[in-house]
Amino acid sequence: MSIQNEILNAIASRRSCRAYKPEQITAEELEAVTTAVLVLGEKNNPNGVQDASLVMGNLLLAASGIGLGSCWINRAKETFETPEGKALLAKWGLDPEKYIGVGYCILGYPAPNGTRTPGPRKAGYVLHV
Ligand SMILES: Cc1cc2nc3c(=O)[nH]c(=O)nc-3n(C[C@H](O)[C@H](O)[C@H](O)COP(=O)(O)O)c2cc1C
Repeated sequence: MSIQNEILNAIASRRSCRAYKPEQITAEELEAVTTAVLVLGEKNNPNGVQDASLVMGNLLLAASGIGLGSCWINRAKETFETPEGKALLAKWGLDPEKYIGVGYCILGYPAPNGTRTPGPRKAGYVLHV
């Protein structure tokens, strides 16, 4: 029998959401998710340079922990290399020479058909050496 607890169950049951209700999430919900990322990220990397996959995992799990749907979306690097992307970075006060796009995290209230039921994960995918 495999070990189960609240955190492991949350990891196992979280799925990407690709359909959302039209209402925006609240400022408190957004704050809760981003704060969770900062807290965990700082512990893992005191120099402030955060590993993208760590940030992504924390964001997605923090979101599902408070009932939000989420999905990671690729190609932010390419977007922020365009003139429009660089203009946005400048508008937000971020130096395009220092910052690169890593990915987008979309958040929202899941629509009824937004999330699939977690299925069985690939067997034999991890090699223990
Ligand atoms: C680096 C990365 C990039 C992704 N980019 C996209 C994307 O552009 N569009 C999308 O719909 N999902 C994207 N996803 C979500 C994956 O499709 C999803 O995590 C994967 O199919 C597993 O499904 P699950 O999250 O429901 O378990 C991305 C995931 C990762 C890790």
